[in-house]
Amino acid sequence: MEKCSSAGDDAVTDILMTGPYPEWDMADLEAKYRVHKLWQVDDRDALISSHADAIRAIATRGELGASAALMAKLPKLEIVSCYGMGTDAIDLAYTRENRIRVTNTPDVLTEDVADIGIGLLLAVARQIPQADAYVRAGSWRKANMPLVTRVYGKRLGIVGMGRIGKAVARRAAAFDCEIAYFSTRRHDDLPYDFVGNLVELARQSEFLIVTLAGGQGTKNIVNAEILAALGPDGILINISRGSTVDETALLTALESGAIKGAGLDVFWNEPTIDERFGRLSNVVLQPHHGSGTVETRKAMGQLVRDNLAAHFGGRTLLTPVV
Ligand code: 8YV
Repeated sequence: MEKCSSAGDDAVTDILMTGPYPEWDMADLEAKYRVHKLWQVDDRDALISSHADAIRAIATRGELGASAALMAKLPKLEIVSCYGMGTDAIDLAYTRENRIRVTNTPDVLTEDVADIGIGLLLAVARQIPQADAYVRAGSWRKANMPLVTRVYGKRLGIVGMGRIGKAVARRAAAFDCEIAYFSTRRHDDLPYDFVGNLVELARQSEFLIVTLAGGQGTKNIVNAEILAALGPDGILINISRGSTVDETALLTALESGAIKGAGLDVFWNEPTIDERFGRLSNVVLQPHHGSGTVETRKAMGQLVRDNLAAHFGGRTLLTPVV
């Protein structure tokens, strides 16, 4: 049976949610809309077909998106509002063809995602999780912990120079890192070295931080050749999408020591990630939590709700993608 929550009025707008939001967003959405919760039902097709003629919006999340197959079942769909910046899991071509609006949540999450990029770099290079385990296990009483890798002053390659890439660069500058970047274009306003060849950037970098948008254009862009160029002392950080890194090549490189380590917030099969990651001691793993602070998630949820309210109130969308 469908667990739909209703604002209790026949004139109320129906929205479909692909996955839950925090309680404070759910409460507000359920007060304003008739919310159909896709993740709570066993028979998703039955839920969709019984409300297909009423659902006017999808509220989704970055990693869940909205496929053409899903949207095609919703003839009254007007808008997809995404809780997340990345829209790679939303079929934008379909939305354009069918005049469906799309919004996302840029800017509000930039600084937190950059924080986790630098945090992962420090965690891998300085082996912070291992150090914590070392102290807890009482090993310190027997011997000092083996020495680790410095971050300060190192050569950092940033892959992608959008909002998050720039925020990572600002932080890395405070660590006196030598910063270079790979991007679709040179940013003349930035004081960092542009390297138009990713293999070359990897070769000259001690650390690579991937901040690219996901999607077909960047799929597996960090492949075996890039990892080989980064080399046995190199550390890879991925805070973008799992799809940007060839995960088979990465696992092989981590297992063989072809690179030194990796800090990963994103994976190919989230949340059921490849079990080989859990057996590696040279990785620090995050559950796609770059934007996962109360402060940022509140701002993201507000933006989703404000975009929906703007759309249904006939006002200009705050952060339109399509
Ligand atoms: C979120 C994201 O973790 O912004 C994105 O593209 O993937 C993340 O910020 C996600 O959308 C929350 O479910």
